[in-house]
Amino acid sequence: MAITLPAFTPVEDSLLLTLYCRALDNRLSKPILSDATADEIVRKLDYDFGQFKVNKNFILNVALRAKKLDEVASGFIRHHPDAVGLDLGAGLDTRMIRVAAPTTVDWYDVDYPAVVAVRERLIPDRVNAHNIGADVTDPDWLSTVPGDRPAVIVADGLMGFLSKDEFVSLLNRLIDHFPSGEIAFNSYTSFAVWATKHAPGTSSVAGLLKFPGVDDPRELERWNPKLKLIREILLTREPEVAEYPTAIRLYNRFLATSTTLSRKGTIVLHFRF
Ligand SMILES: C[S@@+](CC[C@H](N)C(=O)[O-])C[C@H]1O[C@@H](n2cnc3c(N)ncnc32)[C@H](O)[C@@H]1O
Repeated sequence: MAITLPAFTPVEDSLLLTLYCRALDNRLSKPILSDATADEIVRKLDYDFGQFKVNKNFILNVALRAKKLDEVASGFIRHHPDAVGLDLGAGLDTRMIRVAAPTTVDWYDVDYPAVVAVRERLIPDRVNAHNIGADVTDPDWLSTVPGDRPAVIVADGLMGFLSKDEFVSLLNRLIDHFPSGEIAFNSYTSFAVWATKHAPGTSSVAGLLKFPGVDDPRELERWNPKLKLIREILLTREPEVAEYPTAIRLYNRFLATSTTLSRKGTIVLHFRF
């Protein structure tokens, strides 16, 4: 039976766009992420996904950035089987299923309470998976997460909805809470913020973006001296682009010739602390 969603706020609603893109990627002949669970969830929801006018380049970008964040999480967990994993602004994503976190890892999916209530209806329980219904800008929610283990923290699609001050405070709280760890998220340059506000495929989130953009990834090291950039992942230069359909592959290959051009698209920043 189809599941009807509660009335989400516009920011909460944004999770449906990324969920839908992962489902559409799964239906491609050569999927990038192969997230069958996203596809199952989309098919269960009574929701007009057809309203999202997403093009294939956008779908592939959403799938590829999720894959890069999965790789950060899996790599960290491989070296730290006692880790804590956090997915901030998790929406209805099931990253902990994709990365197959072992039971020695405690995984925390954090999103607003209304979103977490839907997660609890749709996503089967796992002993080591925990939902936290909270505003990530609220300083209190972290107190429920063990602070004596290394942490891998990912945020897929969250940054744009926070102001710069909110984002910097969140980073500082996370860095203070854990002894060490890694953090990765898709980041936006000021051009990418402008483009997201003006592209037809992202019109549903255009008015909701608060983050002004950050043009130099090293700027974050100046926000907190413990933060060290491991890698700026320019999606245009990732090997998966070879699997893209011809026209999109050539477009990405062109952008890949220049760091400045690549930063106009999707980038993932990966830090340790
Ligand atoms: C674009 S969606 C991405 C969802 C998910 N990460 C994905 O990739 O499908 C952004 C998510 O961030 C959540 N979010 C935005 N601001 C938040 C905040 N201050 N506290 C908690 N969650 C927030 C929204 O509710 C939404 O689920």
